[in-house]
Amino acid sequence: MSDSARKKLMGSEDEDPERLVSPDDTLEDEVYGASLRPRTFADYVGQERVVENLRIAIDAAKRRNETLEHVLFYGPPGLGKTTLAALIAREMNANFRPTSGPTLEKPKDLVGILTSLEAGDVLFIDEIHRLGRVVEEFLYPAMEDYQIDFVVDRGAYAKTIKLPLKRFTLIGATTRAGMLTAPLRERFGIVHHLDYYSDDELERIVTRSASVLGVPIERDGAATIASRSRGTPRIANRLLRRVRDYAEVRAGGTITDAVADEALQREGVDARGLDRLDRAFLRTIVEQYGGGPVGISAIAATLTEDSETLEDVVEPYLLKAGFVVRTASGRKATPDAYRHLGTLPNRPQQDRLL
Ligand SMILES: Nc1ncnc2c1ncn2[C@@H]1O[C@H](COP(=O)(O)OP(=O)(O)O)[C@@H](O)[C@H]1O
Ligand SMILES: [Mg+2]
Repeated sequence: MSDSARKKLMGSEDEDPERLVSPDDTLEDEVYGASLRPRTFADYVGQERVVENLRIAIDAAKRRNETLEHVLFYGPPGLGKTTLAALIAREMNANFRPTSGPTLEKPKDLVGILTSLEAGDVLFIDEIHRLGRVVEEFLYPAMEDYQIDFVVDRGAYAKTIKLPLKRFTLIGATTRAGMLTAPLRERFGIVHHLDYYSDDELERIVTRSASVLGVPIERDGAATIASRSRGTPRIANRLLRRVRDYAEVRAGGTITDAVADEALQREGVDARGLDRLDRAFLRTIVEQYGGGPVGISAIAATLTEDSETLEDVVEPYLLKAGFVVRTASGRKATPDAYRHLGTLPNRPQQDRLL
């Protein structure tokens, strides 16, 4: 496909290297995220059942003067797993010790952290599905018996030394529960799935964040941002920050419905929260492949994108929002996709008649 054809599909401007609607953590999110992150359960919007269960488990553990059982959170990125883990540590009056699967490369990395834990500490392992096999095996006795087993020497002289640890709580987070091994999963006493947020909940999050940031916002403005946030608080906060910039520079400061709409249109984020890449994906299926079914690699070739990237970062939301369905023979655009793009499906029978 020529560059100009690709540009036509993608819209005239070049794609941002980081998508505004990506659910993944960016550096900017980390910098601002700290101030927007709820510090108490009262500020944590939604996920009521999860929060209620956690509060009970925390209260019970505190009454018994015990550490909390190990907790596993799974669900898509940006829904509040890290936030909940930090909240638990705070509620337990414990230190929060965050780390992540990919950074714990060698057993000695993990052993170093485990032996430095104080009684009651919360060790948070993000992306726990990416722990190496050997590292993971060190974790089993640590989780179960609060000890690590060392093998010293080799061959005939090899012996296992048990090193005791302080009682701690491990909180694991993963976007891919299916990638956890059974022995690891079984060692978590408390397991919770986080799900996407409703527009209503996102509106409350946007309203709260706006007040933390000190930016005036009207109810309709918050609702407009919420409805484009793809069910994800991280995206809601990011869109809010972008709209705030626009409101301050171009619109007298207050975020109204019109200001939010104008600001997000300029960023290429439409009424359903789709960006240029999402729309290019849909348009490829509709305009180049007659609505599908079409294989992901054909779509990838047309967009000169990598098919894994499309599968991981574009398709999940389009599937969830019902713009695309997956069939045995490939991806198909739904009637909603046609409506959203403002095109009509080609009817093969009619074509033949004409
Ligand atoms: N339930 C919630 N209420 C309010 N804000 C939230 C909530 N969940 C997440 N957030 C916001 O979204 C951001 C991303 O949440 P985070 O815990 O980092 O998600 P995850 O770890 O699941 O990727 C946080 O910085 C926080 O500001
Ligand atoms: Mg996280």
